[in-house]
Amino acid sequence: MIPWADHEEVHTATPAAESTRISASIPSSRVNRLRLISTVLNAQLEGDRQEEQRKQAEESLQRSEARLSRAEEIAHIGHWDLDPKTEELTWSKEVYRLFGKDPKMYVPSFKKFLSMMHPEDSENVQQIRSSNLQAKKSFSVEYRIILTDGSIRHMQERIEISTDEAGNANRIFGTVQDITDRKQTEAEIIRQREELRGLAARLAEVEESERKQLARELHDQICQNLTSINIAMESIMIRAHKESLEQLLSRLAGIGVLAEQTSEIARNIMEGLRPTILDHYGLMGGLHQLGSQFSKRTGINIEVLGEDGDSRLNPNVELALFRIAQEALSNVAKYALATRVVLKKEIDQDGVRLVIADDGIGFDQNSVARPKEGHGWGLMTMSERAKAVGGTCRIESQPGQGTRVVVEVNP
Ligand SMILES: Nc1ncnc2c1ncn2[C@@H]1O[C@H](COP(=O)(O)OP(=O)(O)OP(=O)(O)O)[C@@H](O)[C@H]1O
Ligand SMILES: [Mg+2]
Repeated sequence: MIPWADHEEVHTATPAAESTRISASIPSSRVNRLRLISTVLNAQLEGDRQEEQRKQAEESLQRSEARLSRAEEIAHIGHWDLDPKTEELTWSKEVYRLFGKDPKMYVPSFKKFLSMMHPEDSENVQQIRSSNLQAKKSFSVEYRIILTDGSIRHMQERIEISTDEAGNANRIFGTVQDITDRKQTEAEIIRQREELRGLAARLAEVEESERKQLARELHDQICQNLTSINIAMESIMIRAHKESLEQLLSRLAGIGVLAEQTSEIARNIMEGLRPTILDHYGLMGGLHQLGSQFSKRTGINIEVLGEDGDSRLNPNVELALFRIAQEALSNVAKYALATRVVLKKEIDQDGVRLVIADDGIGFDQNSVARPKEGHGWGLMTMSERAKAVGGTCRIESQPGQGTRVVVEVNP
């Protein structure tokens, strides 16, 4: 035993199951020091534990922020925060990206944000913003911004306003979403709807004018001939007893010629309404007929190439190709000043391809005026006809380079 002045008992546990009481005599000043050391060590340990917890919380916050940032990047949605008292504005990384700004170089502010906005939208946005801020109401607003490269993006913001106990706005929080793709799709749908409306109106117009033309042809040709046949028959009936058999036969032969002419006219009218040649002689038969009528009418040389395969195409496909060729040739006659046209049909494993190529003046498709009442519908109608049978129609043309209309259908 060590001869200390004051003694205290110290208890320890042996590794064995039974506890042994060891008594030691330790000076109380030593005990106090040991207690102090223990308190300091405990405080140190507690500090370390708290530091560890703080680190973990910080890491978890960083991970959450990274996840949020990634989610914003994927969804093209950023967020911002504004302190209305200090006007201090904070943007998330995605807002910087959406607005094309560098977070290291750019300090955002509402004024700078307004300067990026499309001039036509700025007033409206400010008005919506201030009326909703006054009313402390959440709101949503759409606007366009002009990026530094001059491109225009459509944005949508949803804004929430928090208020303090006195009802004053103390925080404004907003999300920004790039909705350019959606806006472009909407504009495309509106454009197509307008085109469809125009096409429907054009169809009604064409129907009306075809009816008028049919009525005119029936009147001027069929009815006139029938009237002549009628008059000739009446005249025969009145004068039959006075005329010789020879005279009668010759007058009847004249009536026969008139009747034959009338049925020829009727056949032509019917052919115009629906090209029956396709039913009897197939697409190539129809294209050959179209070609020879075209060259007779215009004096332009035309070469019609191709053969019908062993099996006939779907009648709707044949009719669509025939009508497209008809419109393309009509355009050649009207505009191309061509000397030569090739009308070629090819069939392979990919389907059927029809090409109508002329060596005329060509044209710039970008400067063709949009269809208006009465005209300018031919190119669009060709394309719509091709689409209706599951195909495509493209125009290859440049000023001075002639024009090629290429229709491809995979029936
Ligand atoms: N083969 C061609 N050569 C030169 N220009 C052409 C040719 N085909 C079309 N164009 C140009 O394209 C324009 C549009 O043609 P489209 O067939 O759509 O209208 P259109 O013939 O004027 O009217 P519609 O066909 O409705 O009677 C024409 O006005 C013409 O300038
Ligand atoms: Mg035309």
